[in-house]
Amino acid sequence: MACALPHPLFHFLLLFLLPFSIVARTNGTVAVGTSITANNKDTPWLSPSGVFAFGFKPLEEKNLFLLSVWYYKIPDQTIVWYGHDGVPVSIGSKLGLTVDRGLVLSDPQGKELWNSQLNLSNNVAHGFMNDTGNFVLVSSDSVNLWESFKNPTDTMLPTQIMESGGEIFSRFSETNFSQGRFQLRLLQGGNLVLNTRDIPSNFPYDPYYTSGTSDSSNPSNSGYRVIFDDKGVMYILRRNNEIFYITPQGMLFPATEYFHRATLDFDGVFTQYYHPKTFNSSTKWTRIWSQPDNICVDIGGGEGSGACGFNSICRLNDNQRPDCKCPPRYSLLDPNNTYGSCKPNFTQSCLEDDIMSAEDIYDFETLISTDWPTSDYEHFKPATEAQCKRSCINDCFCAVAILGEGSCWKKKLPLSNGREDNVVNRHAFLKFRKSNPRTLPSPLVPETKKNQGTLILVGSVLLGSSVFINFVLIGAVCLGFFLIHHRKSIKSHHGNHGAVETNLRCFTYEELVEATNGFKEELGSGAFGIVYKGAIQMGSRVVAVKKLDRVVQEKEKEFKTEVNVIGQTHHKNLVRLLGFCDEGQHRMLVYEFMSNGTLASFLFGETKPSWNQRTQIALGIARGLVYLHEECSTQIIHCDIKPQNILLDDYYNARISDFGLAKLLKLNQSKTNPATIRGTRGYVAAEWFNSNNPITAKVDVYSYGVLLLEIISCRKSISDMEVGEEEKGILTYWACDCFQEGRLDTLVENDMEALNDWKRLERFLMVAIWCIQEDPSLRPTMRKVTQMLEGVVEVDVPPCPSQVSFY
Ligand SMILES: *[C@@H]1O[C@H](CO)[C@@H](O)[C@H](O)[C@H]1NC(C)=O
Ligand SMILES: *[C@@H]1O[C@H](CO)[C@@H](O)[C@H](O)[C@H]1NC(C)=O
Ligand SMILES: *[C@@H]1O[C@H](CO)[C@@H](O)[C@H](O)[C@H]1NC(C)=O
Ligand SMILES: *[C@@H]1O[C@H](CO)[C@@H](O)[C@H](O)[C@H]1NC(C)=O
Ligand SMILES: *[C@@H]1O[C@H](CO)[C@@H](O)[C@H](O)[C@H]1NC(C)=O
Ligand SMILES: *[C@@H]1O[C@H](CO)[C@@H](O)[C@H](O)[C@H]1NC(C)=O
Ligand SMILES: *[C@@H]1O[C@H](CO)[C@@H](O)[C@H](O)[C@H]1NC(C)=O
Repeated sequence: MACALPHPLFHFLLLFLLPFSIVARTNGTVAVGTSITANNKDTPWLSPSGVFAFGFKPLEEKNLFLLSVWYYKIPDQTIVWYGHDGVPVSIGSKLGLTVDRGLVLSDPQGKELWNSQLNLSNNVAHGFMNDTGNFVLVSSDSVNLWESFKNPTDTMLPTQIMESGGEIFSRFSETNFSQGRFQLRLLQGGNLVLNTRDIPSNFPYDPYYTSGTSDSSNPSNSGYRVIFDDKGVMYILRRNNEIFYITPQGMLFPATEYFHRATLDFDGVFTQYYHPKTFNSSTKWTRIWSQPDNICVDIGGGEGSGACGFNSICRLNDNQRPDCKCPPRYSLLDPNNTYGSCKPNFTQSCLEDDIMSAEDIYDFETLISTDWPTSDYEHFKPATEAQCKRSCINDCFCAVAILGEGSCWKKKLPLSNGREDNVVNRHAFLKFRKSNPRTLPSPLVPETKKNQGTLILVGSVLLGSSVFINFVLIGAVCLGFFLIHHRKSIKSHHGNHGAVETNLRCFTYEELVEATNGFKEELGSGAFGIVYKGAIQMGSRVVAVKKLDRVVQEKEKEFKTEVNVIGQTHHKNLVRLLGFCDEGQHRMLVYEFMSNGTLASFLFGETKPSWNQRTQIALGIARGLVYLHEECSTQIIHCDIKPQNILLDDYYNARISDFGLAKLLKLNQSKTNPATIRGTRGYVAAEWFNSNNPITAKVDVYSYGVLLLEIISCRKSISDMEVGEEEKGILTYWACDCFQEGRLDTLVENDMEALNDWKRLERFLMVAIWCIQEDPSLRPTMRKVTQMLEGVVEVDVPPCPSQVSFY
């Protein structure tokens, strides 16, 4: 178009018009009566520095525009707010600023599409596009009548606040701005949660991230505001003005030099990003942190499809974001939505069983390290692969059989919460129909969808002679109706809102005798008594029952109080307490059962676990300790962190056990009598023995440091010394020597995976050495430890603790 203009005139226009139009709009103020048209020509309303724009952003699809606020200067013109429920408008649509109604969006024919829904009591004096990214409508007495920050979409920006009851939604897909399935909410109770939901009823499903800032026993300790401050730090403010940081403290990207945004991405991951303010064409947004850590594994619950759609499989990619894929022989329900549900491209029904043998019709596809942890309808053990498959193939309801730890689970469609991850120690045997020349293309296959009726009719006529085919068709049609009906019934499901409170169950002694089969199978014994394996809920739930044998006589009420404190803890890196028994001298605690044993046997067993797995475990323990020290309603100091007290769940997540017991059992952390010291030799900090020093959470930091060294090196903190290897006998000394002499290869015994990850190895080692400092005040808090391990804050070179004493 520009080329068509006569040369001199074009230059004249360019010189005269462009600077004028930019200058005219750069103080950020928008006068009442101004309007802009969606047409690629009108300049949007810019903030004073030009960083943000408000107006019609052209979309990739030609002639469509989105009413939005976006980063105008940077190459990646990131959208941070949108109006009109994210629905694009066509070319020629118009946005006006009016005195009485504020912003009004209308289509090219002048029909109103959207407005800013103002309170009519006050007139608009002007609009203002602030450099913070907030577009505001201001009254003549300088009251903000409307703010884009108060009507957030999927993004929060520095200086933006979310009040109690506030929420943001993911968009539907990367390019479709309609509300998606994921939601971030600050609940009235004080927790910030991420959850999936039903569309369109907005009924929320179980959270897959919870901040842990709700405290029902002490409401003033509960969160009520999420603040994204002008420094780019996001935190939850508690009613007592205490702060719960979401952005790591000591974050290295100051808002003076970096743009920040926190977006609930369309795939359900809430992420804070930064972008340098000085940039070139290849500068991108980079992640600082995100929640949850692994959406594929962290998401669960009985309702909803999980991170991906139904029947789909989620796998975390290198950017900590989920990728979704359909299993073999399944295809996308909506070919344009790779994050959506998958449908089998074959039919399976219970109608044809007596016609052919199941083995002739079906076979299995093996998927390694894959599970759909919900959707079970049968479970048995012990089971071999052959038994598991046989049971599934002969069961017309069975869509997939999952085998792990000698157990077999049978699952039915639709499958939810599918995941593939190295930590999933289960394999899936996915049942599919063998290609069968006599089968018709399924009516569920997309190409045939439109003409389903005709196709079935034609098919029936052509192949009417085959009884079998008719059965297949009937089955397919029934399945189709079932799926449609099922989706409807899911949608129309309205239950009671609100979070489910966990109530500890009080067991009778009798019940636990029965559950453990008379305390028959011993799982182990610890400082507090023997642990037995048991099963509750008609044998469907395996549990660990800890018989407390060192109960100091104390009142029933105190026991209950302490048990309740333990019962209120909720973290994925803690072993969950399910119930207790308190009958006379019978005091017992009932925990969930951890199938993969202790970290001690995992670390010091025959095969060395992978470096990657070890680092994940180290991080998990650190996060669990942060929770115990800072995030639960009453601070819990563990006092006995060691590999025997860390258990591993089905997915090899580290789970801290035995926490809260020191207090429960009134081992009044007396330091004069070593016999009462709860810690274990090799893991105990020096202050236990120095009665001038109070016992603080820093004793756990010390023990964690020792444990971290063990995780790094796969060696015990005190090992039997072999001739010529005496120096390695005490791990804390040896590790420090290795660090000072740069002999990291010796420390990890040439573990190539660790050595190829040198930066992280060195970082982990330095963190461990900081933790084992003799002076408790030099040791970092567990929160700082976590942030250093994650690499979001810098780690200084630690001094080696002096080798004066060893406990
Ligand atoms: C911005 O410019 C307009 C005129 O273009 C003027 O009326 C208004 O007062 C200015 N606002 C500020 C805050 O300077
Ligand atoms: C509208 O204004 C009135 C009085 O100023 C106030 O009571 C009411 O809550 C406002 N409504 C909304 C939706 O802001
Ligand atoms: C722009 O936002 C900043 C930070 O919230 C605020 O201090 C300032 O008053 C705003 N400017 C206007 C003109 O509203
Ligand atoms: C975005 O997704 C929603 C929900 O599936 C759909 O109704 C809408 O038509 C889509 N919008 C566009 C522009 O594709
Ligand atoms: C862009 O800037 C980055 C540093 O911010 C630099 O590493 C890169 O080489 C630059 N790219 C170009 C094309 O200038
Ligand atoms: C089913 O999907 C597989 C790939 O997953 C493909 O090879 C096969 O041709 C499909 N069958 C039908 C009937 O579409
Ligand atoms: C997928 O997208 C293309 C173009 O974006 C569109 O033509 C097609 O109708 C869409 N298919 C479905 C099933 O929505």
